[in-house]
Amino acid sequence: MRVALLTDETGWHTRQLQAALRARGAEGRCVDLEDCRIDTTVAWHGLAIPGFGRELPDAAIVRGIAGGSFEQVTKRLAVLHALRELGVAVYNDARAIERSVDKATTSWLLHAANVPTPPAWAIESPAQAQRLVTRESAAGHALVLKPLFGSQGKGLRRVGLVDGEHVPLPALQDFGALAYLQRFVPALQSPGFDWRVLVVGGRALTAMKRIGRGWIHNVKQGARCVAQPLDAPLASIAERAAAALRMDYAGVDLIPAPHGPQVLEVNGVAAWQGLQRVTPFPIARALVDDLLDRKLASAAPARRA
Ligand SMILES: Nc1ncnc2c1ncn2[C@@H]1O[C@H](COP(=O)(O)OP(=O)(O)O)[C@@H](O)[C@H]1O
Ligand SMILES: [Mg+2]
Repeated sequence: MRVALLTDETGWHTRQLQAALRARGAEGRCVDLEDCRIDTTVAWHGLAIPGFGRELPDAAIVRGIAGGSFEQVTKRLAVLHALRELGVAVYNDARAIERSVDKATTSWLLHAANVPTPPAWAIESPAQAQRLVTRESAAGHALVLKPLFGSQGKGLRRVGLVDGEHVPLPALQDFGALAYLQRFVPALQSPGFDWRVLVVGGRALTAMKRIGRGWIHNVKQGARCVAQPLDAPLASIAERAAAALRMDYAGVDLIPAPHGPQVLEVNGVAAWQGLQRVTPFPIARALVDDLLDRKLASAAPARRA
C-alpha cells in the first residue's frame, strides 16, 4: 500500500502521517503537487506522479495546495480530480477541498443545510457592499471582511459598527476585488474563545477551545489551546457541518453565540498540531485508520485501458 502525501512542505504533520501509515503496513511518500504532471504520453492513466514511476498511488492524502496563478492551481486541482476519477482514494477529495477553501461556498452550503452559521455575503460591487455595511452598522452589527481563500486568521478586518464606531468597507484590492463578509459574533465572555472540532469519517473525535487576546483565535495568531470535552451539541453541529460539505475529515471552527454554537468555517486541509497537544490519542492514526478502513473500501477501482 503506497500513499502519496501531497504537500509543499514536509514537517511534523507528514512525519506523523508517515509513522501512522507505517504502523498499518503502508508507506507514505511526500510529493509536491507542483511537481505532479498531466502527461498523456507517459502511461495509460495520463499522470506523472514523482516517486511512483508509471504507477499510481493507492491513495493520496492532501496536506497542502500551495498558492499559485489561477492556471497553476487549476492544474493542481485537475491532478486531484484525475486521481479520483482513476479510482485513487483522495483524502479529502478535490471537490470537498474546493467547497471548503472557498469561504462563500462554505457559508452557502452550511446555510442550505440549516447548520447554524452567521449570515454571510459575497458581493463584487463595492457600492453594494458598502450599502450592506452601512445597513448592518445601523442595525448594530459588525461584519468580518475575510479573504475568500484565507487561512490562519490572516487578513481579517472588522467593518460596520466596531466598538461603537462606524468602520466603512476598505478598498477591496487586497481581497481580490470581492467582499466576502460574515456577520461578527461578539464574545459572550472575556477573554473570548472559539472551538476547533475535528470530524473524521463523519464523527467528531476531539475538540479544543482556542483562547486568544484579541478577537481572532487562530493558533497561528497565538491563541492558547485548552482541551474541550465534546458535548452533544458541539459534536452534532460540527458533524452536520462536515456532512454539508461532504468532507472525509474536517477541522470545524465554531463560536459560542446566545442560541448555541455557530459554525464560522470548515477546513479541508486542517492542521492538527495544536489540537494534538490536548488530545489523548494520536490524531494521525485516526486519519489513517479512516482512510484505510472506510475511504479506501469505497474508492472505485481504476479503469485500465
Ligand atoms: N463572524 C465572526 N465572528 C466572530 N469572530 C470571528 C468571525 N469570523 C472569524 N472570527 C475569528 O477569526 C478567526 C479566523 O476566522 P476563520 O473564518 O476561521 O478564518 P481562517 O481561515 O483565517 O481561520 C476565527 O477562528 C474567529 O476567532
Ligand atoms: Mg479558521
